[in-house]
Amino acid sequence: MVEKPLIAVVDDDESIRDTTQDLLDSAGFRSAVFPSAEALLASVPVDAISCVIADMRMPGMSGLALHQKLAASDHPIPTVLMTAFPEEPARTQALRAGVLGYLTKPFTPEALLAYIGAAIRLGQGGMQPSASDGDDAERRARQAAKMEAIGRFAAAIAHDFNNILGAILGHGDLAQLKLAKGAPARRHVDEAMRAAARGKALVERLLAFSRGQPGARAPVRVQAIVEEALALLAPSVAPEVRVERRLEAADAAVIADATQLHQAVMNVCTNAVQAIGRSGVVTVALARARVEKPIVLSHGTLESGAYVRLEVSDTGTGIAPATLARLFEPFFTTKGSGKGTGLGLTLVRAIVAELGGAIDIKTELGAGTTFTLCLPAADELPRCFASTA
Ligand SMILES: Nc1ncnc2c1ncn2[C@@H]1O[C@H](COP(=O)(O)OP(=O)(O)O)[C@@H](O)[C@H]1O
Ligand SMILES: [Mg+2]
Repeated sequence: MVEKPLIAVVDDDESIRDTTQDLLDSAGFRSAVFPSAEALLASVPVDAISCVIADMRMPGMSGLALHQKLAASDHPIPTVLMTAFPEEPARTQALRAGVLGYLTKPFTPEALLAYIGAAIRLGQGGMQPSASDGDDAERRARQAAKMEAIGRFAAAIAHDFNNILGAILGHGDLAQLKLAKGAPARRHVDEAMRAAARGKALVERLLAFSRGQPGARAPVRVQAIVEEALALLAPSVAPEVRVERRLEAADAAVIADATQLHQAVMNVCTNAVQAIGRSGVVTVALARARVEKPIVLSHGTLESGAYVRLEVSDTGTGIAPATLARLFEPFFTTKGSGKGTGLGLTLVRAIVAELGGAIDIKTELGAGTTFTLCLPAADELPRCFASTA
């Protein structure tokens, strides 16, 4: 029989250790508790552990130092940190160091289990590049050089761009103060402010991406993100283009950085609208999906388990084979200068891969294209636990 994954809980506070272990026990996990990071390192071989939940502040080695030690080993283990301080400054540092996320004490069983599910999936290889990526060293070196160029480019513009957004937010704030709640212009100013705030988050995200940092992960309701993206997109959709929505996963969550996920959804939907031109239909469907046995999609592989599936179909141009082969390349665009950046799908792919998901593309020249993004659902345990006694 395959042994269940072992979760290590490290906290100097005995009651937290016990409560966490109880929660894990009742959800059917195998766990071991340790009063310090040193105790963990001294008593179990690290390759026996699937996931570590550690307190951020402990008298000896901190949770972050433990993560860093494990991350540098031959057997990196996904780590979730716990903290009693929501404003803990070390959080940003922890996320930059690659921890999966953090739980603020007291945390709910749902939050804990969502992280554990994601951690185990990552440990099982969700972050490995798929076989279809190939391992052509030269192509990868070229890709790496391009990513470095994006990083430099992003760093160069981000500062100026942030200043511009700062001015918009500052003046917008003043305008909001001067406009009465019911004033006709108020709604537009509020919308503009929301968009500017998103812009600021995006600049930060782009910088983090260019430095190769993971986003701040937490359980996120995908449907709310999709609805927000569609609302933002609406003003730029031509009158003869119909956007149909079939959103049927209101309570489904994934562990993700909300800004990052929003960006991925926006990019795919924007491409669909742009592929249509004057008239046609874009269909955006969101649903839960259960994968019974591993399947290979056009871009990535899905292990069995629970997923959230976003399907964006358009009745647009379709994609020619030569374009299809280069779709995810940074700066690859078929749109004229000033229209396309060629970065949209590069980011989409990186974001989906970071979440342990996969992408499927179906396209027919002259008829249209469907992009399907499958992301591991956070609110159900992976299948391996459903059947193990
Ligand atoms: N839904 C779609 N239909 C047709 N072509 C698409 C679609 N989505 C993406 N593409 C093609 O992929 C290219 C790269 O897309 P992307 O990375 O988002 O960059 P950009 O949109 O800035 O060109 C596009 O220029 C376009 O040729
Ligand atoms: Mg695009």
